[in-house]
Amino acid sequence: MTTQVPAPTSTFDPATQRVLTGDRPTGPLHLGHYFGTLQNRVRLQDQGVDLFVLVADYQVITDRDVADRLAEHTENLVLDYLAAGVDPDRATIFAHSAVPALNQLMLPFLSLVSVAELSRNPTVKDEIAHSRQSAVSGLMFTYPVHQAADLLSCKATLVPVGQDQVPHLEVARTIARRFNERYPHADGSGVFPAPRALLSDAPLLLGTDGGKMSKSRGNAITLGATEDETARLIRGAKTDAERRIGYDPTGRPEVSSLVLLTALCQERDPETVAEEIGDGGAAALKRAATEAVNEHLRPLRTRRAELAADRGHLRQVLRDGAERANAVADATLAEVREVMGAIA
Ligand code: TRP
Repeated sequence: MTTQVPAPTSTFDPATQRVLTGDRPTGPLHLGHYFGTLQNRVRLQDQGVDLFVLVADYQVITDRDVADRLAEHTENLVLDYLAAGVDPDRATIFAHSAVPALNQLMLPFLSLVSVAELSRNPTVKDEIAHSRQSAVSGLMFTYPVHQAADLLSCKATLVPVGQDQVPHLEVARTIARRFNERYPHADGSGVFPAPRALLSDAPLLLGTDGGKMSKSRGNAITLGATEDETARLIRGAKTDAERRIGYDPTGRPEVSSLVLLTALCQERDPETVAEEIGDGGAAALKRAATEAVNEHLRPLRTRRAELAADRGHLRQVLRDGAERANAVADATLAEVREVMGAIA
């Protein structure tokens, strides 16, 4: 089983696509990110799309008061990207706070959505439910609008995301459409393409506690974890009492998630993996999963350890990325100001 990106065809020409996706620097990336979007980013890059990867530092403070250890998390995110195969010579890796024009786009965009629309957004509702703050800040409430600024500042056409981000993307599409209608170019054309979601076909991996795998919930296997840590985490994962292993994501979510994880690492079908473990029970399943993860990630982890030694290089990658992202966002903002009739 693999995560799919469209094969290059007459309707999908990678060379014409700009892809943007990103992560908040709140902690290390984990297997959910890896199979959910990271692999897809690298595949797209290798097919020749123009890949932008965003370290969403300003969005850390959407659901918490301070961005804890921001510099460290930012560098480590770049490290995870590079280790996974994002190539800074071909891709643009940058941080929000280094691109003023991106952030300025939020102003006209805020005028294009209603408070009611934002209140209905299921991803915002979920993020509010898991927020560490007692009150919902304006930034949290307008998170999808800022994300629209991310996407539209570089006129992204394709966004490899997990299912949970689809409502956010819908807001970006709405904003693009409304902006184009309200402020067309003189020839009637629109400034913004509507970005499309590129969903991984991998069903969501669960965390070791059976909930959504998440950096902040302490239930994730990180890319940078050691082999021993990986073994310990998987050994402690929730399963069920039934001896025979099967793949039934609805009926037996925890067991099925471990089967799926093994299958993804080995690029096999989860049904085959489950069949093979058969009556081995949870212990055999966990052994198989541990081995599969450690084997699959070994080259990535080796690269990661090498790259981790050179923090200066990680910062240089971000500086180079910021330069490119600024050039692109400045051009977009200039176009926005022009169609809105701003003077000078
Ligand atoms: N909101 C995303 C998350 O929490 C991160 C993100 C920010 C993003 N901007 C983006 C993802 C643009 C895709 C496209 O994971």
